[in-house]
Amino acid sequence: MESSRRLYEEAQGVLVGGVNSPVRAAIRPYPFFVREGKGPYLVTIDGAKLIDYVLGYGPLILGHAPEVVVRRVVEYVSRGWLYGAPTELEVALAKKIVSHFPSIRRVRFVNSGGEAVATAIRLARGYTGRKKILKFEGCYHGAVDSVLVKAGSAAAHFGSPSSAGVPEEVAKLTLVARYNDLGSVERIMRAEGNDVAAIIVEPVMANYGVIPPREGFLRGLREIADRYGSLLILDEVVTGYRLGIGGAQRYYNVNADITTLGKIIGGGFPIGAVGAREEIMDKLSPKGPVFNAGTFNGHPISMVAGLATIEVLETTNAYEVAIRASRRLAEGINDVLGRYGIDNVVNWVPTMLQVFFTKGDVVDHETASRSDAKLYLKLHEELLKRGVFIAPSQFEAIFTSAAHDDNVIDETLRQFEYVVKELKH
Ligand SMILES: Cc1ncc(COP(=O)(O)O)c(C=O)c1O
Repeated sequence: MESSRRLYEEAQGVLVGGVNSPVRAAIRPYPFFVREGKGPYLVTIDGAKLIDYVLGYGPLILGHAPEVVVRRVVEYVSRGWLYGAPTELEVALAKKIVSHFPSIRRVRFVNSGGEAVATAIRLARGYTGRKKILKFEGCYHGAVDSVLVKAGSAAAHFGSPSSAGVPEEVAKLTLVARYNDLGSVERIMRAEGNDVAAIIVEPVMANYGVIPPREGFLRGLREIADRYGSLLILDEVVTGYRLGIGGAQRYYNVNADITTLGKIIGGGFPIGAVGAREEIMDKLSPKGPVFNAGTFNGHPISMVAGLATIEVLETTNAYEVAIRASRRLAEGINDVLGRYGIDNVVNWVPTMLQVFFTKGDVVDHETASRSDAKLYLKLHEELLKRGVFIAPSQFEAIFTSAAHDDNVIDETLRQFEYVVKELKH
């Protein structure tokens, strides 16, 4: 790790905290720098080969550098890659998304999940003429002022900024409810519902560990939003194409008014997307008064990589492999920890999971906060020494891909058991 350590020192002289996104600085004892990725593996500049369960924080559902995507990107790139005019690729990828999400008839491509969320919120406000939005404590929706908001005082519905630089006045327009608790939503909506433009939610909370929705929670939100004339924004930046074709909406049988997508739909290249029915999307520029624009919107390389990725997902057993890997890992982790007498909860949905060192169900941000995050960090550190990379935070997800075959999972569980045995001593 000598080269990474030196580079990290150098990086701190020119990059804030030595990184370009904060979670990367949490890797212990210091971030490794990457030379390349192939299949389920990352190779560091020090030559360490790591089984990767971070997968770029979700996008790489086929693993690193899958052949089809590499070929399509390389074939395309000699044609140039930015025209300031549309390409047929944008039409093709939008058609795929429309065919997979019944709630989406029109799409706008942007460059990140955060941008998609910012656009969706502006669109919801423009469409309804209302100012407030309702979010859930513990859900993350990108580096966007309106959603960098946490619960305020117990008596207040409105939130307070979770980042310096977000004005109180902005945070006050965001109401904060409790995930998996329809009663908390009802209470807020009874008081404020007529001013609420949208309820925004991660259909599976993937940024506080992995927390699936309780039976009926998402359909309850759908019903409450309808009752108050608010829009339901399902933030499928993580779950879109990860829970399967059609994302969480198909998996849980619920329709959004506005959907935000990102990550997988760009095959690992920068992307975000907003989708909804015509009547809502037609409020966006150039058709309507709600502004959105972007130099890189619909970038051809992101379109090519996204199309290639989705085509593989549609036509191969990629989901089968990735889902099997996640299930085996979840069961294996729970089994090893149980055998060593360590309290744990493993939450699982297709292709993603997280382990919490706690007793009792983990159903919201409060129950997740009770878990031993320090022990998780120790697990991260020890696994890394043994060639397995899980996120350096309890409050991220463990992702699997179609490159995580049985051998990779067997090897991971072997290393996991070794680490747990050591931790017990
Ligand atoms: C649910 C969710 N929404 C939005 C975002 C923001 O996406 P991006 O990092 O591409 O801006 C993320 C990022 O992790 C996310 O998990």
